[in-house]
Amino acid sequence: MQNSLWLVGIEKLPINKLTTSLNCDVCIVGGGLTGIYTAYLLAKKGVNVVLLEGNSSVGIATTGHSTGKLTPQHDAVYAKLLQSFTVGETQRYYHANVNAIESAISNLPIELYQKADSYMYATTEQGKKTLEDEIEAYKTLSIPGFETLETELPFEILSSIKLPNTAQIHPTNFALHFAKLAMKEGANFYVNSRVTKVVIDEKTVYVEDDLQVSFNHLVLATHYPIEAVKGLQIAKLSVDRSYLTATKTSELLKGQYISVDSPSRTIRTALINNQPYFIYGGSSHIAGTIEDTQNYYETLQNEVVSKFDLPKPEYLWSAQDPNTADSLPYVGPITENESNVYIATGYRKWGLSNSLVAGEIISSAIIKEKHEAADIYNPSRNQFGKTMLRMLNLIGFTVANLTEGYLTRMDAPKCTHLGCRTRWNDGDETWDCPCHGSRFDKFGNVIEGPAVYPLDLK
Ligand code: FES
Repeated sequence: MQNSLWLVGIEKLPINKLTTSLNCDVCIVGGGLTGIYTAYLLAKKGVNVVLLEGNSSVGIATTGHSTGKLTPQHDAVYAKLLQSFTVGETQRYYHANVNAIESAISNLPIELYQKADSYMYATTEQGKKTLEDEIEAYKTLSIPGFETLETELPFEILSSIKLPNTAQIHPTNFALHFAKLAMKEGANFYVNSRVTKVVIDEKTVYVEDDLQVSFNHLVLATHYPIEAVKGLQIAKLSVDRSYLTATKTSELLKGQYISVDSPSRTIRTALINNQPYFIYGGSSHIAGTIEDTQNYYETLQNEVVSKFDLPKPEYLWSAQDPNTADSLPYVGPITENESNVYIATGYRKWGLSNSLVAGEIISSAIIKEKHEAADIYNPSRNQFGKTMLRMLNLIGFTVANLTEGYLTRMDAPKCTHLGCRTRWNDGDETWDCPCHGSRFDKFGNVIEGPAVYPLDLK
């Protein structure tokens, strides 16, 4: 059963359910960090904003299941980006993340973030080679990271790259802080208000209980966009699942770590109510394709005990991450023709800093200011070869899962998105859809879209 460390004892903000239909200038669907930060930046500029969240609180879904690393070291991504983007474009990705993090934490109370150096490490020859390529990319891009064998890890490594002076956060408290600021600036937030339909031509979203919100601008900040057909994101985004655990420890680490080996591992510590916790996670597979996910948790729990000499983790949770073909998120207008409807998705596993960048890009576009990274994050960017290949693969994958589900899981409930058969996930006790990553709790309620309606479990 999922129990994220970041959801323990969190503050309950006084946010109501939507009870009347509304008009607004900007409607934001989704109360994770992307939606919240966009609302905050717009409200600060005096824009009339309504934010709709389907869950009982903002900041608890995707944001509340992340690692809480706030760093531009997005695993070994820079060598990869240089295969698709120019040096200048890749530098703009790096600087957009650095600047967004700095801007967000510049006025933050000190208890809401900690400075921590970010490390990528390798324990295999293949991982070492990955880091050799990545350090070359750092040099090309003038990223101030360097190779070192000095880490706090209790096992031998072959190589690591350290990027000093990055940050880590309690992601839910961080998001709630900006939610409070946004509401103080006049943004109107609503929880338990799930959007069931988006009609772009009518400039209206439909909310449960027959309510409507009319907008001039719409921001779909739902992680996987609930409207992903218009811009064909449905055929461009794959969704991965990875796993996290937390256990009590006695010491805090100065660094935060990620391995570039396969399976990957992520490591950091956090201080919660004066108790240090050790957070350990990793492994990844296509969402909705594995039934026996309990195995993944058990492997991580055993490694915490055997490699770090710590108690078996009691907090276990998983995260889902949409990926794009070229490793850069899609942030901006959903299509070239719908310039008033924005999406923000495809963050891979680096949603916290990319949420901040997304908030900046989308709010700048709405108030007609230029953002230095808008073109490289643009969902309509031209990466024709890679994107086409990805689309063909994903369409094939979806059709295969649709067919396989109907042949082998006749009794599994049908996903309310596009009808693929879901799969029961015993580790998290959820119904998962392999086609586009929708998740439902054991009662059939939507945990994560693009589905918006509950499962029919009858
Ligand atoms: Fe698309 Fe289930 S998420 S069919």
